[in-house]
Amino acid sequence: MFTTDIGTDTARAKHYLEHGELVAIPTETVYGLAANGLDASAVASIYRVKNRPQFNPLILHVANEVQFSKWAKQIPSHCRALIKAFTPGPITFLLDKSEQVPDLVTAGSKRVALRIPDHALTLGLLAQLEFPLAAPSANPSGYVSPVTALHVKEGLDGKIPYILDGGTCKVGLESTIVSFDNNLIRIHRLGGISEKDIQHATGANTELSLAHDQPESPGQLKSHYATSTPLLVGDISQMLTQHHGKRIGVISFYRDYSQVSTVNYVLSPQGDVTEAASSLFSAMRELDRSQLDIILAESFPDEGLGKAINDRLNRAAFSAQ
Ligand code: TXA
Ligand code: MG
Repeated sequence: MFTTDIGTDTARAKHYLEHGELVAIPTETVYGLAANGLDASAVASIYRVKNRPQFNPLILHVANEVQFSKWAKQIPSHCRALIKAFTPGPITFLLDKSEQVPDLVTAGSKRVALRIPDHALTLGLLAQLEFPLAAPSANPSGYVSPVTALHVKEGLDGKIPYILDGGTCKVGLESTIVSFDNNLIRIHRLGGISEKDIQHATGANTELSLAHDQPESPGQLKSHYATSTPLLVGDISQMLTQHHGKRIGVISFYRDYSQVSTVNYVLSPQGDVTEAASSLFSAMRELDRSQLDIILAESFPDEGLGKAINDRLNRAAFSAQ
């Protein structure tokens, strides 16, 4: 057991990480649960603390592009273009791993996931470390990802010594994950960088590879990001009629349903999809705490970030069906 402190002391975070302990770190997407990515026993604690299946590999977080050539065998030209266009930022690259990356990080896969997070505190920390940080999202496996230090504490209190507090994550959805196959870029998870962004930056063809049955990337498994309260996605008015009489929470894009529900969380009154994405996980957590029978969430226009939001909602909804 630890006393889990929250603070902004990167020297303290560095100390723990250098001694094989776990520290939660802020990024622009969601908080990560970080360990020394070259220390197999520290990495093993990540799986234990999160209760994460060991077949589900971890992303290595690095400070800059130079680090990529240490941990990946080669960097395709499309990857370089994406690094230039979007990093530091919400995109993760699957590349052939170099020998030094422990198999526990990649769960035995020949590929490693690399990402440069866009958060000053964490970039500052990475610059002081001699190793990359292996970090999944800092939530117990299967639950909604944390976007504040307090969310991390709710899920992992007593299990880690320190949470580096970098405020609320500005993107609020996990990174987009891509891999490279000659001129084709495969998108394994939708996130802060859209398919169109990737096409524009590279001129490459893209393919969505979000299959759910035999996941190449286990984050593709459904029933990820789930609330404990059953969550349904669709047309709010229709669902409200079907569930009349229940204690209902509504997560809506910009419309106001407060008169016809028990609790209504409007993600962006101005109808701004970026703002909506950044408040989605807070909304899911808040409604999950509100003793409701059911949470109804609105489908988003299926493009850009809206597509990534729908992806998260649909995964959260699976366990309710
Ligand atoms: O935004 C993010 O990506 C956040 C922040 C903390 O960086 N991290 C995150 O990590 O979402 P996690 O572990 O919750 O999701 C990472 C996904 C998982 O679905 C995992 O299966 C996939 O990346 N992944 C990691 N390494 C992989 C590999 N070598 N091959 C295939 N998929 C991989
Ligand atoms: Mg996760």
